[in-house]
Amino acid sequence: MPHLSRSDELVFFVNGRKVLERNADPEVTLLTFLRKNLRLTGTKYVCGRGGCGACTVMVSKHDPVSRKIRHFSVTACLVPICSLYGAAVTTVEGVGSIKTRLHPVQERIAKSHGTQCGFCTPGMVMSMYTLLRNHPQPSEEQLMEALGGNLCRCTGYRPILESGRTFCAESSGCQQKGRGKCCLDQGENAASSLGRESDICTELFAKDEFQPLDPTQELIFPPELLRMAENPEKRTLTFHGERVTWISPGTLKDLLELKVKHPDAPLILGNTSLGPAKKSQGHFHPVLLSPARISELSMVSTTSEGLTIGAGCSLAQVKDILAGRVSELPEEKTQTYRALLKHLKRLAGQQIRNMASLGGHIMSRHCYSDLNPVLAVGNTALNLMSKEGTRQIPLDRDFLAGLASADLKPEEILESVYIPHSQRWEFVSAFRQAQCQQNALADVTAGMRVLFQEGTDTIEDLSLAYGGVGDATISAQKSCQQLLGRRWNEPMLDEACRLLLDEVSLPGGAPGGSVEFKRTLVVSFFFKFYLEVLQELKKPGKLLSVPDGHHFPEISDRFLSALEDFPATVPQGVQRYQSVDSHQALQDPVGRPIMHLSGLKHATGEAIFCDDIPTVDKELFMALVTSTRAHAKITSVDLSKALELPGVVDVITAEDIPGTNGAEDDKLLAVDKVLCVGQIVCAVVAETEAQAKRAVEETKIAYEDLEPVIFTIEDAIKHSSFLCPEKKLEQGNVEKAFEEVDQIVEGEVHVGGQEHFYMETQRVLVIPKTEDKELDIYVSTQDPAHVQKTVSSTLNIPINRITCHVKRVGGGFGGKVGRPAVLGAIAAVGANKTGYPIRLVLDREDDMLITGGRHPLFGKYKVGFMNSGRIRALDIECFINGGCTLDDSELVTEFLILKMENAYKIHNLRFWGRACMTNLPSNTAFRGFGFPQGTLVTESCITAVAAKCGLLPEKVREKNMYKTVDKTIYKQAFNPEPLIRCWNECLDKSSFHSRRMQVAEFNKKNYWRKRGLAVVPMKFSVGFAATSFHQAAALVHIYTDGSVLVTHGGNELGQGIHTKMLQVLLGQGQGFRTAVAVETPVRHPWSAGAAPCSLTCCRTFSAFLF
Ligand SMILES: Cc1cc2nc3c(=O)[nH]c(=O)nc-3n(C[C@H](O)[C@H](O)[C@H](O)COP(=O)(O)OP(=O)(O)OC[C@H]3O[C@@H](n4cnc5c(N)ncnc54)[C@H](O)[C@@H]3O)c2cc1C
Ligand code: FES
Ligand code: FES
Repeated sequence: MPHLSRSDELVFFVNGRKVLERNADPEVTLLTFLRKNLRLTGTKYVCGRGGCGACTVMVSKHDPVSRKIRHFSVTACLVPICSLYGAAVTTVEGVGSIKTRLHPVQERIAKSHGTQCGFCTPGMVMSMYTLLRNHPQPSEEQLMEALGGNLCRCTGYRPILESGRTFCAESSGCQQKGRGKCCLDQGENAASSLGRESDICTELFAKDEFQPLDPTQELIFPPELLRMAENPEKRTLTFHGERVTWISPGTLKDLLELKVKHPDAPLILGNTSLGPAKKSQGHFHPVLLSPARISELSMVSTTSEGLTIGAGCSLAQVKDILAGRVSELPEEKTQTYRALLKHLKRLAGQQIRNMASLGGHIMSRHCYSDLNPVLAVGNTALNLMSKEGTRQIPLDRDFLAGLASADLKPEEILESVYIPHSQRWEFVSAFRQAQCQQNALADVTAGMRVLFQEGTDTIEDLSLAYGGVGDATISAQKSCQQLLGRRWNEPMLDEACRLLLDEVSLPGGAPGGSVEFKRTLVVSFFFKFYLEVLQELKKPGKLLSVPDGHHFPEISDRFLSALEDFPATVPQGVQRYQSVDSHQALQDPVGRPIMHLSGLKHATGEAIFCDDIPTVDKELFMALVTSTRAHAKITSVDLSKALELPGVVDVITAEDIPGTNGAEDDKLLAVDKVLCVGQIVCAVVAETEAQAKRAVEETKIAYEDLEPVIFTIEDAIKHSSFLCPEKKLEQGNVEKAFEEVDQIVEGEVHVGGQEHFYMETQRVLVIPKTEDKELDIYVSTQDPAHVQKTVSSTLNIPINRITCHVKRVGGGFGGKVGRPAVLGAIAAVGANKTGYPIRLVLDREDDMLITGGRHPLFGKYKVGFMNSGRIRALDIECFINGGCTLDDSELVTEFLILKMENAYKIHNLRFWGRACMTNLPSNTAFRGFGFPQGTLVTESCITAVAAKCGLLPEKVREKNMYKTVDKTIYKQAFNPEPLIRCWNECLDKSSFHSRRMQVAEFNKKNYWRKRGLAVVPMKFSVGFAATSFHQAAALVHIYTDGSVLVTHGGNELGQGIHTKMLQVLLGQGQGFRTAVAVETPVRHPWSAGAAPCSLTCCRTFSAFLF
């Protein structure tokens, strides 16, 4: 429905240029706007919910309170453009370019080898750039904090951090020591028997060649915005979108009036809660109220009793405010502030802390909230405001549970938050356990406070609040009540644990699972709190008197390790490589650490990935409709509502396929039945992405469930549900050997699955040409030949009509071997039917739903061995969970059993492998192709044998390793000399034996914290079982100007295959001036598994050239 009032003009700046939007749509995010409207594709889409940092940009705003310009990093995928009124945005393109001038951050990340596929690189650059705008010489801790919200799937963080460290004031990194001795060259290494140190280099880049950072060269805050900020617009600004209206009042009074008029409208600040909820739970709000321009919500005030912080302050600002109070006030008054600070260092990543507001955090009442448990135990009060006046409510159990009687009224807003000082004899602590230290939601989080009667250890007041253990933050009120008046001693501790386990009950099916683990955390946190407080009480002069003359319980030194938090130290590391021969020509780059050929383009955002290709004429967008049932008959498909929606062009079903619809048991589009949740049923084609996605929701499919529904390997075995015949390898006489051994151990091993989590989700652009049914397909794949072939059979056209282009892929890891062909074929059917180009970009959620991952494995072993640790017989049976179709499961099973012997020569062996068929998305190729899962079973046998023989596992490994040239189980001659040399070198260089002793010593002294150290040999044969898969070709054009064009069959997935080609070319053909590696296939190797693909290409290319 058209709006009666017109939209205001939205004014902001991007990279120094003014953007004036007359029809700003509140549903459009900055990421979409940058990529689609401004064609600034350096900012990448990966997760769309603030979790990965790939879309990081810098926002600069004038702060009305401090009257300074604030530069802060944000994740563009969560920033609605309407929130940018008066802001300046800097993207990676605004920082520097290879065409004009590179910024030092861009130069250094590329030259420090901080990019592989490069998909995360612009985000990394922007996080570092923002840090340097605020701190031109940051500390290493600041660097770590700035990058905490950025994920990289391929490079590993060492080289990325290394590039950032070159800006740091002080650094202990090995690179900083230049050619000096690094930490790894000390101790045992210094006395290395290998005597090869002179061949080894650690220098990967020349720091002195970097251009210096010159802060005066940065873009200034646009004067026009400064003028706007100094004379702020008091008028309410309104932006009408197709479905949503954004209202931004200029005064508090107007905001309160608007809240009366729109009581259901949420206040939108950081959008870090509303945004993800809209995406994953479909929450929709037709009106949004933005209080961003209301300075009253950013006020901070202090009294002698406490601190009041405006609800609009960001969590990053809250952190600074609290740090300020902690430095000014005595320790006893800042207990709550310290506890909050502890969590604020860990909560999300820097970008989210910059965006999220304190008010939004409290009001979201997430069950996993880190701050709410601490605020609740710290007696925090909420200052509410409405047109009728102000009032205060406690942030307590009832508020957190969302009870209407303890909540805000619809017309009220949270104006500020009052956090009182702690008092003498009061102790407050915060605890959280997450899968990693930053940017990970906590499994369990807690705030705890105890107040003692003056001068005693008798509990006067106790508050314990937990997050992550229910639908809301939970207060253990009953337990606390029962512990009042008790002394702070072990009987109290025992009683508290019993009460807590009773009160904070987690039912078996509690959301998030890991129930046992969470229950353990509930009591572990209290135990830590007990020790922490006890230690405080024992500090000299703390306690005036102990009532009955008893002393406090002693804390054994062994137990004290429970109190040590894992230090957030900057990781140290060094890469060692063999230096080239001193006679090697300087211009020969083979063996030298040269920068990734696209490194600089990755760092400037100028490297073009599939979805960065500009929109082509008449392009349509495709979105997929997937099954919501695991095993069901499709009884009806109703597309009528979807087809009626504006912008919807068509819905593609199996009936539209002119050729074959995949294989009989692996259909591209489901026909009569579905085999898993996430199976593709049909696809909507619409003018825009938003229209296509809306239509997906309106597609109605009715199902009739079928039996059985099989998810686990155990169920599949029970139902004899398998995808292919059993695979078996055997050598020697296993049965006889079992009769002759000293001991036999049997066991079972379960290995879970894994998501590929390539940063660039699956995406494809199909462009039909006007002549001869030709198609150009731009696709992010590891195997373009497979896409080509599948599209050909689906459309029933010859393969030669189809050209696949793969410039580069933002990570594959095996996940882009098979699935891109399915998506390419479906998109091609769409293009064929409509006659228009089709773009298909999977959301992270759809990508994870539709595509499978690593095969989970269940292995049963029986190992027979002598008391010396020598294994004489091994029998392993493995089952992998293949999902609902064959995909690569048969090959994975073969690889698994072929490689399961690992580096060990065991004369009597039997390996069985079976791929189970279950009602899950089909699992597929994944780094290692079954090897990691299989060898985990083999290595479990080794540790089981070691335990039985009372030997160290590495001794059993050594004893059973190949010693002389011998035949492997797959009858290949194997010379173990490099394996043994590598093993000895690893032990030697890592000071393995002395470190092992240190680990044992540490573990003896520390009851709670444990360390471990292991060394595992690995024999991994490169290549494929079928030698035809090793074919490759290279086409070299030498032009009359001396430049060279190389066309080869490998795909650039981040492994730097083009860089290697260039090295080969320059290394041997020194007369050539330029080498360009392009993407079009000549004849592809079977797959682009990074190592085999690179090897084959290099070999073929070398042979061809010279
Ligand atoms: C990637 C990611 C990681 C995260 N990690 C963590 C983590 O580790 N630990 C953790 O605790 N949290 C985490 N969070 C959650 C985050 O802390 C909250 O989403 C955030 O604090 C919400 O603040 P906001 O300003 O973005 O709220 P918004 O999304 O803007 O608003 C949220 C809600 O608050 C209401 N609201 C906001 N301000 C007011 C006000 N003044 N008066 C009345 N109502 C108001 C709005 O109406 C809305 O309903 C994470 C979030 C993301 C996206
Ligand atoms: S954080 Fe925006 S795409 Fe991941
Ligand atoms: S280089 Fe970081 S995700 Fe590939």
